Amino acid sequence: MSHTQEILSQDFEHLWHPFTQMKLWPDEPPLVIERGEGNYLIDSEGKRYFDGVSSLWVTVHGHNHPAINSAIAEQLKHLDHSTLLGLTHPLAARLAAELARITPGKLNKAFYSESGSTAVEIALKIAYQYWQQIGHPEKKTFVALGEAYHGDTIGAVSVGGIDLFHQVYGPLLFPVHRLPQPFCRQCPLGLKHPQCGLACANALEPMLAEHGDEICALIVEPRVQGAAGIIVQPEGYLHRLWEICKKHEVLFIADEVATGFGRTGTMFSCEQEGVEPDLMCLGKGITGGVLPLAATMATDRVYEAFLGEYDDFKTFFHGHTYTGNPLACAAALASLELMEKNQVVQRTAPVIEHLAKGLEKIAQMEHVVQVRQHGLMAGVEITADKSTDTPYEPGLRIPHQIIMAARKHGVIIRPLGDAIVLMPPLSSTTEDIDLLLDALGKAIAEVCGS
Ligand SMILES: Cc1ncc(COP(=O)(O)O)c(C=O)c1O
Repeated sequence: MSHTQEILSQDFEHLWHPFTQMKLWPDEPPLVIERGEGNYLIDSEGKRYFDGVSSLWVTVHGHNHPAINSAIAEQLKHLDHSTLLGLTHPLAARLAAELARITPGKLNKAFYSESGSTAVEIALKIAYQYWQQIGHPEKKTFVALGEAYHGDTIGAVSVGGIDLFHQVYGPLLFPVHRLPQPFCRQCPLGLKHPQCGLACANALEPMLAEHGDEICALIVEPRVQGAAGIIVQPEGYLHRLWEICKKHEVLFIADEVATGFGRTGTMFSCEQEGVEPDLMCLGKGITGGVLPLAATMATDRVYEAFLGEYDDFKTFFHGHTYTGNPLACAAALASLELMEKNQVVQRTAPVIEHLAKGLEKIAQMEHVVQVRQHGLMAGVEITADKSTDTPYEPGLRIPHQIIMAARKHGVIIRPLGDAIVLMPPLSSTTEDIDLLLDALGKAIAEVCGS
């Protein structure tokens, strides 16, 4: 049995993969990724692939960056893990101060966890408990967007709005007020932008006028709904939501798990519209994409509602075993230092522009109905018939076929519904982008026949 076959036989026998129909899994043996070098992944047969999805939207500086690796190795000489329950450690404190410094507005406190889902879960619980503790126990429900994605734990699924992922759990979920999705091409209100005057955001006004007394917070993915297929919000949308929330005293939760740490051309997407959230969820790129770490940022105003004597029982009774793991904090601090020293976010500007130029050509293709891009996040939506905007039958799995074809051209990407997602690392060069788009163009042509 070859080395690759040995790994695959154990995988097929024992491993249950995320978001994967396991019955079909052995029919198309996966790549076995054994090494990462910069923006490339190398499989067990020695073949190199450009990491076109930043290993699920996390990679910032490329794989195995020596500065991050050595920060982790250095930390290992001192402390592998210690709890934050009743104790602290230097890097958890230093990283919290750094996050408070770089996040927008008055976010001044960091609560750690390990994934984007838990960062969201924590924000929801903090928002809920906040109102309980300042004398408004009636403020109990949340507002979220149509087709939102905030993670896979039950609270995050409750505010999520993607039926394919979430519907089956319906009876387990708490009810949520739902805003129409800000998706101009298929506007749920049947309107046209900009004549609509941001009607999808304005819909929040009557909702809060009527139910604001019982609503504790709104949660939104700022500027881009990632998992919905890279849906880019019209300019001013985010700021409008924020203004309405402030007017009606509803907390504003920015879920920057996907968009944070430079992914959309600024350190955080909220900055692009001058929005200062009450709570912010961070994950994915926080460690440069190296170790699992997440943080929920809160303003002092929110935090102070949790202060009291022990027997006031205002404590936030929440915490995970690996909360603030020192190795993950070391990676995050090293990544943030690199970002600042090398001006990583500023340097993405020409790469973002290069990506936009290249995508113009992709948009002309016969089976591409829309290309959506914001920063280094892009979605290329595939259609059976562009003139009538008719999608392919889901059973044909055309987007899946396209990403498999792209692998033959040396690129790893992933589909989301009818869209192909491109999420190159922030460290991508224009040559990397050319390789990515060339592979995508060829793959679409091969599968869709144009
Ligand atoms: C906006 C947003 N929030 C939360 C999450 C959940 O993050 P995780 O998969 O790390 O739990 C994701 C994941 O894609 C996301 O895009």
